[in-house]
Amino acid sequence: MMLTGDRTALFTVDIRQQLDEWVAKYPAGQSQSAVIPALHIVQAENGGWLSEALMDAVGLYLEMPAINVYEVATFYTMFDLKPVGQNKINVCTNISCMLNGSEQVVAHLEQRLDIKLGETTENGKFTLREVECLGACCGAPMMQLNRDYHENLTTEKIDAILAEMN
Ligand code: FES
Repeated sequence: MMLTGDRTALFTVDIRQQLDEWVAKYPAGQSQSAVIPALHIVQAENGGWLSEALMDAVGLYLEMPAINVYEVATFYTMFDLKPVGQNKINVCTNISCMLNGSEQVVAHLEQRLDIKLGETTENGKFTLREVECLGACCGAPMMQLNRDYHENLTTEKIDAILAEMN
C-alpha cells in the first residue's frame, strides 16, 4: 500500500536536499533506487535509528510502498529500528572470527562496557551487538565501530580503541 500525505512533512530542508541529490542519480521514475542512502541520511539525523514514521516518510518521499522500505531497513544490520547508543559496536561472531577468538572479544567488551550483547550503556554512549560476517574475515577477529572496521583484535587493542572514544 502506498501512503498518501505531505511527502516533506518529517524532513528538514537540508535532509530533503540530500535526498533529492540521491534521487537525481537515478533515471526518472526510479526514485526508490535511492532507498538505502535515504535511510542512512534519515537515520543519521535521528540519532542513529529509524522510527516507523520515518520509514513511512521515506516511502512517501521516494514514492514507494512503505512495506518495501521496511523490508530494506529490517534486512540490513546497519539500520536500527529502536533507539541506540551514540556509538554502535558490531562484533562479528561468524566462522572466521569465531575460530580466532570473537568469544573473548565479546566477553571483554561486555565486561568493559558493563552491558550484554544487544544492550546500550547507561550513559547512552555505546550499543553492543553481535553481527554476521562483515566481509573482513582475513582480519579476524574483528568489530565495526560506527563506520570503521577494527581487525586482528586483542584485549589491548580493544582497550586502546575504547580509550580513544573517551
Ligand atoms: S567471519 Fe568475521 S568478518 Fe567474516
